[in-house]
Amino acid sequence: MGKNIVIFASGTGTNAENIIRYFEKKKSASIKIKLVLSNKKEAQVLERAKRLNIPCRYIPKNDWEKGEEILSLLQSNEIDLIVLAGFLLKVPDSLLEAYPRRIVNIHPALLPKYGGKGMYGNRVHEAVAAAGETETGITIHYINKEYDKGEIISQVTCPIQPDDTPEEIASKVHALEYEYYPQVIESLLS
Ligand code: GAR
Repeated sequence: MGKNIVIFASGTGTNAENIIRYFEKKKSASIKIKLVLSNKKEAQVLERAKRLNIPCRYIPKNDWEKGEEILSLLQSNEIDLIVLAGFLLKVPDSLLEAYPRRIVNIHPALLPKYGGKGMYGNRVHEAVAAAGETETGITIHYINKEYDKGEIISQVTCPIQPDDTPEEIASKVHALEYEYYPQVIESLLS
């Protein structure tokens, strides 16, 4: 039986594109990206999804908060796993209840450090650089009601050199995200 994924994303969407391409290449895994949803009308991720022929939709903030329309959209698409890739809104409780241990997120640091509301993207890398950390990495985790506090599935680290800028740290972390996030998703579905 095939498995279906929905991706939630708010921004650039490089992880979303990487995941889509990974599963397109791996037809044998019979895992399909059915849908991409964004809370930002102008998000670049929607352009990427269109280019890759993946159905995608902008959903306004009010509808994310209510959750009913999204829930019925996911049910009609027979979604098995919800994948957050740079998604910056809170996931509604109705989805958490309907998809227990079936909503995953990637965070660009080693949680529980540098997590919580407002900690996303480059803000995380700036904080890591300012603190003089000698390593950082990625955390893939299930979602719960609190930002970045859900059960950890996998962490991968990378070293930081003393003169690394936040941009250099970001590019090391992105490389880890591209390598590991699709593999972890695949293992969760097999
Ligand atoms: C990624 O680095 C992801 O880990 C991070 O946002 C970036 C999205 O980039 N997520 C968070 O910070 C969540 N708190 P992308 O849109 O190019 O995939």
